[in-house]
Amino acid sequence: MAPYYLLLLVFVGAGRASAAELCTDFYNCTCPNLLPIVNNGVTKFIQNDPRIGASLLRLHFHDCFVNGCDASILLVDTSKFIGEQTAAANNESARGFNVINDIKANVEKQCPGVVSCADILALAARDSVVHLGGPSWEVGLGRRDSTTASRSDANSNIPAPSFNLDALIKNFADHGLSVTDLVALSGAHTIGLAQCRNFRAHIYNDSNVEASYRKFLQSKCPRTGNDNLLEPLDRQTPNHFDNLYFQNLVYKKALLHSDQQLFKQSATTDTLVKKYATDNAAFFQDFAKGMVKMSNIKPLTGNQGQIRINCAKVN
Ligand code: HEM
Ligand SMILES: *[C@@H]1O[C@H](CO)[C@@H](O)[C@H](O)[C@H]1NC(C)=O
Ligand SMILES: *[C@@H]1O[C@H](CO)[C@@H](O)[C@H](O)[C@H]1NC(C)=O
Ligand SMILES: *[C@@H]1O[C@H](CO)[C@@H](O)[C@H](O)[C@H]1NC(C)=O
Repeated sequence: MAPYYLLLLVFVGAGRASAAELCTDFYNCTCPNLLPIVNNGVTKFIQNDPRIGASLLRLHFHDCFVNGCDASILLVDTSKFIGEQTAAANNESARGFNVINDIKANVEKQCPGVVSCADILALAARDSVVHLGGPSWEVGLGRRDSTTASRSDANSNIPAPSFNLDALIKNFADHGLSVTDLVALSGAHTIGLAQCRNFRAHIYNDSNVEASYRKFLQSKCPRTGNDNLLEPLDRQTPNHFDNLYFQNLVYKKALLHSDQQLFKQSATTDTLVKKYATDNAAFFQDFAKGMVKMSNIKPLTGNQGQIRINCAKVN
């Protein structure tokens, strides 16, 4: 009896690679220039297209929410699996793959075969936020890359813009994230753009949309057609990371249904939204904390998974 019990413990221990295993100096000896290589890559691409910072942040979120931060989202479909890139939330929407592939190629030149794509994505998300004026945080390193990906897992794990507050809270709780994390991390919508198809239901069917904003959006996004038309998630400063997103929510000027759910003048999250709307420092602090938690979701560590050479395919 006793030996079986021990064996079980060992396996449970190995399976649950905890976030504590990630550390900021993981590549100090094997790739000392990693941080500047990633930061230079991010800088170069943002200078060309400021939106790419938002896209990289979202890519990291969509990676972490589907079986952990394991770069599964970067794998293109193969004969062995239908991957995540064509899942509902990513198809014709997720972008920035070329940036990670480009940075990875530069990393491979200096430190072949040692740095994971999952770590590069986590660093690129942080550097993007800093570049656009947001807070910084330490990124724990040592994640490894998955050898598979699943469209159906992506479809069931990534929250949709049609979600109501309860569904958003449950989705985040399922990923080990609190209500505070939900509200703070939704502040990522202070940067980037969304397509008409994702906010149409909100501007035609929801009652809590400020009248002039509704009129403006309806003039851009018709009831049918123009599905891919882009509008900023934060109309005032779409390329600047700040707390105006929360001020918009208070004025019923959210672009997405899911965003306005956080402030309904009855919602449990109203207090937090109002706090972040008036206190940028509080938002930055909670956002950084939430990002560290999100970046630490179920990493592959030790000898799990692999270090991909090309982020788009398994070795
Ligand atoms: C709370 C649940 C969330 C929902 C329902 C949601 C949904 C969406 C949708 C529908 C879009 C527009 C996609 C398109 O039209 O192509 C979007 C964009 C974006 N999301 Fe979220 N999101 C959520 C949380 C988050 C979180 C936690 C982050 C990061 C920490 C994030 C970062 C972004 C960014 C930066 C963009 C703009 C991307 C770009 O311009 O390329 N979102 N989100
Ligand atoms: C790793 O490098 C960073 C940045 O150069 C430094 O701050 C840190 O002390 C180093 N850690 C170790 C264990 O050498
Ligand atoms: C992805 O989008 C393209 C273009 O709209 C569409 O043809 C395709 O069916 C979509 N794929 C999936 C899996 O929904
Ligand atoms: C608005 O709601 C109606 C009734 O539930 C639905 O049939 C329609 O598709 C919705 N409109 C949009 C643009 O989502």
